[in-house]
Amino acid sequence: MRWSIAIRRVLSVVGFALLFLPVQVSAEETVCIQCHSGQEGRLKAPVEQWRNSVHAANGISCNDCHGGDPTDFTMAMSPDRGFVGVPEYDEVPEFCGHCHLGVKEDYLGSAHGKALESGGPQCVLCHGSHGIQLASIKLINKESCTRCHGYERAIKVKQAISSTEATLTSLEESVASLHRLGFDMKRMKENLFAQRNAFRQIFHTVELDKIKRQKVKFDKELAVIQGQVNTYEAEISQRKLVGGGVALLLLLGGGIALLIRRSYHKEE
Ligand code: HEC
Ligand code: HEC
Ligand code: HEC
Ligand code: HEC
Ligand code: HEC
Repeated sequence: MRWSIAIRRVLSVVGFALLFLPVQVSAEETVCIQCHSGQEGRLKAPVEQWRNSVHAANGISCNDCHGGDPTDFTMAMSPDRGFVGVPEYDEVPEFCGHCHLGVKEDYLGSAHGKALESGGPQCVLCHGSHGIQLASIKLINKESCTRCHGYERAIKVKQAISSTEATLTSLEESVASLHRLGFDMKRMKENLFAQRNAFRQIFHTVELDKIKRQKVKFDKELAVIQGQVNTYEAEISQRKLVGGGVALLLLLGGGIALLIRRSYHKEE
């Protein structure tokens, strides 16, 4: 009897305290998503596209791009709550560059950025807006890059970055498999991630000479990482060799023991 009262008291205090915890709004549960899921056409489409995007995977939600209050149904899209609505074509670089600062800088200084007002491509034209995926060299393709000019210049840029891209990809695979084998790859992974982001950014200059100059620096840095990966891999094959050697010795030992036993039994 006494106990149940005590327990009830504790529970009511805990419940009361819970009321005052800050409301945790996950990217999935915002009022933006709840209401827009129930809309139609151009108002609903962004939700479905966004769900499979790199932004959703990294917790960047509607309100992180469009502003507004993700916790308040009635005030969600009020400018007073920071709602900025939909950007005009030439406002997009600022809109995205809010978070992708380095890319924005390289882009604004480029032939594309300088032609923004006269029909140059902006972020959304190449990446999309809601269904954005991890960036890769595949974004440089005939279909996308011949909308305004010939493909010759585009293919030259692609050729210039492709060998470094290939090195990055193979290093990422090596680091992932070393990690699976139990090596501590945290620092190397971070370094590789930084290199990758910085390298993929320079595409936005679309300036062949600049890209080629930068590429030399990246190739040097990646060679250092490759050297470290090689050391680890050498260690693994050494371990395998030692492991194999031990197995062989055990096998030999067993064989000899058997022979001795046999000859011993024969003598009996
Ligand atoms: C209660 C329902 C509801 C909520 C909550 C809601 N929206 Fe909307 N949203 C709408 C409707 C309806 C429209 C179209 C009419 C309009 O523009 O007001 C719209 C339009 C928009 C547009 C396009 C505006 C334009 O100019 O074309 C964007 C962007 C948008 N909402 C983003 C958001 C974001 C971000 C949030 C959360 C912070 C949010 N919405 C919350 C119902 C909602
Ligand atoms: C990465 C930034 C980003 C995120 C995240 C994002 N949007 Fe958008 N949204 C944009 C951009 C840029 C445009 C304008 C260009 C376009 O229409 O493609 C836009 C346009 C829109 C429009 C107008 C579409 C039309 O055809 O008129 C609506 C509605 C909208 N967004 C709602 C949402 C909702 C709801 C979410 C969350 C599920 C969301 N957005 C998440 C960047 C974003
Ligand atoms: C002409 C097409 C094009 C335009 C315009 C463009 N991008 Fe890209 N973007 C690419 C390509 C291609 C890559 C991949 C390059 C690579 O793999 O080396 C990329 C890579 C990226 C990356 C990954 C690299 C990193 O630094 O994390 C981000 C983020 C990005 N773009 C954002 C933007 C933003 C923001 C804008 C507008 C300011 C923009 N892009 C404009 C084609 C474009
Ligand atoms: C509120 C901050 C924010 C805004 C605004 C934003 N992004 Fe992102 N974006 C991120 C984060 C965080 C990631 C995931 C981490 C990463 O890969 O850098 C990301 C990832 C990306 C990637 C994949 C990068 C890669 O490594 O391959 C691309 C491409 C991209 N964003 C383009 C855009 C474009 C285009 C816009 C505008 C329509 C935009 N982003 C607006 C925060 C933002
Ligand atoms: C919306 C139109 C448009 C699209 C799409 C487009 N470009 Fe461009 N591009 C331009 C304009 C405008 C210029 C600058 C004027 C000129 O040199 O023709 C330019 C210039 C270039 C240059 C020369 C830069 C210099 O400094 O000499 C390269 C390289 C280039 N683009 C590559 C690409 C690649 C790669 C893609 C596809 C990922 C692409 N472009 C997609 C409009 C576009």
